[in-house]
Amino acid sequence: MRIVIIGGNGHVGTYLVPRLVTAGHEVINVSRGRRKPYSPHAAWEQVEHVVIDRQKEETAGSFGKKIMGLKPDAVIDMICFTLSSASSLVDALRGKVEHYLFCGTIWVHGHSECVPTTEDQPRQPFGEYGIQKAAIEDYLLKEARLEGFPATILHPGHIVGPGWAPLNPAGHFYPGVFAQLARGVALTLPNLGLETVHHVHADDVAQAFVKALTHRSLALGESFHVVSPQALTLRGYAEAVALWFGRKADLRFLPWEEWRKTVPKEDVEYTWDHITHSPNMSITKARKLLDYQPRYSSLEAVYESVNRLVENGEIEIRS
Ligand SMILES: NC(=O)c1ccc[n+]([C@@H]2O[C@H](COP(=O)([O-])OP(=O)(O)OC[C@H]3O[C@@H](n4cnc5c(N)ncnc54)[C@H](OP(=O)(O)O)[C@@H]3O)[C@@H](O)[C@H]2O)c1
Repeated sequence: MRIVIIGGNGHVGTYLVPRLVTAGHEVINVSRGRRKPYSPHAAWEQVEHVVIDRQKEETAGSFGKKIMGLKPDAVIDMICFTLSSASSLVDALRGKVEHYLFCGTIWVHGHSECVPTTEDQPRQPFGEYGIQKAAIEDYLLKEARLEGFPATILHPGHIVGPGWAPLNPAGHFYPGVFAQLARGVALTLPNLGLETVHHVHADDVAQAFVKALTHRSLALGESFHVVSPQALTLRGYAEAVALWFGRKADLRFLPWEEWRKTVPKEDVEYTWDHITHSPNMSITKARKLLDYQPRYSSLEAVYESVNRLVENGEIEIRS
């Protein structure tokens, strides 16, 4: 197929674009041309790059027309964040593409009722990002079921890969937390450290997109969680990281209101966002319908990424 990927040179695209090329697809990457993939791959030489700024073209009302001008059989949309952005693109693509794959997020769920959370549970999103993604999902599912629009929605967890800092055991992104655990320095976690996070390796997200294309008839009109097989508690995550470095984690705990005063404001916001969601997602549906087979557990995905941070000297693990 001729596949247009919007935002294909980021975290997921680094793995997805080479997978699409090696599966025999013709791939066109749409971006502003600013970023480079995190890892090199010979497949990128076969990719056509088209520079389009989505925001600018949407403001001008010409984004959908520009995408259609690339004559796609399928469109993979990595960077859609508002309902208006989604609906204007769908209006342009309707009746003209075989498949539209939208990248959502597990944040569409807000907090969960029963865990592991399945795709059919009622959505209770909070925060503008999750609310908008849930509204887009709802809209696309209606378009698919009522109008036959060929949409599939994939909801990744916390995306991890070598080249950027993974979500850490304190629920934020400061890489120094890994160094603390490696050096045996005490780490204080909020509450009892039993809230959860749910990572996924970027290559497993890529795998799910490719498999959704392959299993198109089962994927149409459906949404799928794309995460590792199991979520982690913050405490269990911290203990496992310390063990990688031959240490027993020296963990302390503080109630949220006290803990929040001990870390910088930006980190507090990230941790709050993660622990109020405390995701623990089911992948049974993706396994069954798409044959999704994640290659990485959460810890394996994070390990690879932390190793790269160490190699690059971005974290100092020796005391
Ligand atoms: N990060 C996570 O942990 C996480 C978790 C769940 C879901 N998600 C979802 O994953 C998706 C993002 O995927 P990702 O992490 O692979 O993306 P990413 O690393 O943020 O990359 C974004 C891509 O879009 C391009 N881009 C950004 N702004 C653009 C614009 N105005 N016009 C055209 N291209 C633009 C960038 O290239 P240029 O800069 O060169 O334009 C880049 O290729 C989002 O839908 C997000 O909701 C992410």
